[in-house]
Parts: sequence; structure tokens; C-alpha cells
Amino acid sequence: MKETVTDIKDLDKELLGKLDEHIATLDLTRKEESLIPTLYKAQELFGYLPHNLQWHIARQLDLPSAHVNGVVTFYSFFSEEPMGKYTISVCMGTACFVKGADKVLDKILKLTGTQPNEMSEDGLFTVKDVRCIGACGLAPVLTINEKVYGNVTPDDMDEIIESYRKGAADDKDS
Ligand code: FES
Repeated sequence: MKETVTDIKDLDKELLGKLDEHIATLDLTRKEESLIPTLYKAQELFGYLPHNLQWHIARQLDLPSAHVNGVVTFYSFFSEEPMGKYTISVCMGTACFVKGADKVLDKILKLTGTQPNEMSEDGLFTVKDVRCIGACGLAPVLTINEKVYGNVTPDDMDEIIESYRKGAADDKDS
């Protein structure tokens, strides 16, 4: 991230105010320890962490913006792109890969019409390929938000994706 990103006028002022309120409660003598909780809070509020928001956080915590960006890009939980309502994380660790996780991933990308780390056009899905999530006995494994799906096959994905589409439509109607 360039140190010159300074334009925060596109960020929602009310959300920015809430973020600054949160930062005001932190012990800024321990700015390094405050960074991850602040990034969590920012992602919860904004849904993702665009560069100008990272720059704002860096300035508020008095940290180099390149350092903040390094943390954001290191942890797969954080996203620099807008996220869909549902995040599908497909494990591509060794145990899952040898059991066909790549085929499951391909099927999900086809069904959602997206690419890894991009939000689908309908705003419902973001698909990520992730490292081992520690459930190798269930390989191949994926999670959708908090829910874990084990021993999945490409064919299973039609029904699973459809159930989330239907759930989202039902949420809208209610
Ligand atoms: S390799 Fe997929 S859960 Fe461990």
C-alpha cells in the first residue's frame, strides 16, 4: 500500500465515527496489540478493509501504513475487497487437495460465477481458497460463514449453494 493514500472522503462518516470511538477506548501505548482488534472492528463495520480505511487506522494508531497492510494481507480473515453475505472458504490443504478439493472449488466458482476472493455479482458469495483448517479427518472440507461441511463432493454443491440462495431470498421476504 502506498503511504500517500490519504483520501477518506468516500468512507461512511457515521461508521468512521464508530470506529474512532472504538479506537478511543484502546490503550494506544500498546498500539501493536491494538491493531488486530481495530481491524476486526473496522471489517465488522465496513464489511471489508479498503486501502483508505487501512490508512486511516494506521494514522490513528500511529503505525506505518505498510505494516497495517502487511497484517491485513497476511490473515485470510481480513479482506481488501467487498465481501458477499456468505463467505465460502474451501480448504486446499494437502489432505483436502488429494481428496478432490480443487474440483469442489471449481464447481463452486462455476455455480457462483465468481473468482477466488471476488464477490459474486448478486452480492451473496465470496469464495476463498484457504490453508488447512484443522479438520483433515473430514476432507475435503469447506466452511460457509461459521458452518463446516465435510466430505463434500462437487455434486453436493448444487444443493448447498441453492439452499443459501433460497435462505437469502427468504430473509429478504421476511
Ligand atoms: S487439509 Fe483440509 S482440513 Fe486439513
